[in-house]
Amino acid sequence: MRLQKYIARSGLASRRKAEELILQGRVKVNDVIVKELGTKVDPQKDTIKVDNKVIKLESNKVYIMLNKPEGYVTTLKDKYSVKIVLDLIHGIDERIFPVGRLDMDTSGLLLLTNDGDLAFKLTHPSFQVKKKYIALVEGIPTNNKLDKFRKGLKIDGRMTAKAHVRILKKYRDSALLEIIIHEGRNRQVRKMCKSIGHPVKKLKRIAIGDLELGDLDLGCWRHLTKKEVEYLKGL
Ligand code: URA
Repeated sequence: MRLQKYIARSGLASRRKAEELILQGRVKVNDVIVKELGTKVDPQKDTIKVDNKVIKLESNKVYIMLNKPEGYVTTLKDKYSVKIVLDLIHGIDERIFPVGRLDMDTSGLLLLTNDGDLAFKLTHPSFQVKKKYIALVEGIPTNNKLDKFRKGLKIDGRMTAKAHVRILKKYRDSALLEIIIHEGRNRQVRKMCKSIGHPVKKLKRIAIGDLELGDLDLGCWRHLTKKEVEYLKGL
């Protein structure tokens, strides 16, 4: 990359101003003053300083919310040629990836980003970010059974953390539950519901922390607002 482009891409100055800085002898590449316009630098290897301060490229961070339909997987590539969530997102040049997983047969809120730090934080169990689901389950669970969610129950030989659960609606032979968990174990909600004898028929994630899916249409996506990004970073 040409030196003046590097300086401009760091957000420090316009391309023209960057050229002036170079001509004024204020720019160093690996601690050597460079006054030649068009000098090539390697952003991975070279250290660029302006007025003796190191400058870095400003990377373009992208934060997207998708309403994932059923039938799509959250892996980046699929060897069995099933549909992947990235197929639903067009016009983004950055290499974004899904934050955490949603099962192929789960719909709802999925975040995608190229911000590895934020993705790590949102998915790491120690940060305990709450995730809210709506589950349609077989039968109508009694309060006693739902108390098992609230106290924690054993799945895959390990206790779950305390979860929030309430019945939103009762049908003749099924019920709609709101479930909030802080963990992200594999197929956790499905396993929890199955273990109390009420398997999931349909599952949708509607919130991550206070970030809500809202009325985003199924299969559609949008960029997060600045405020939403700041909220997630502050969690
Ligand atoms: N729990 C599940 O069982 N499936 C998901 O996709 C997410 C949480």
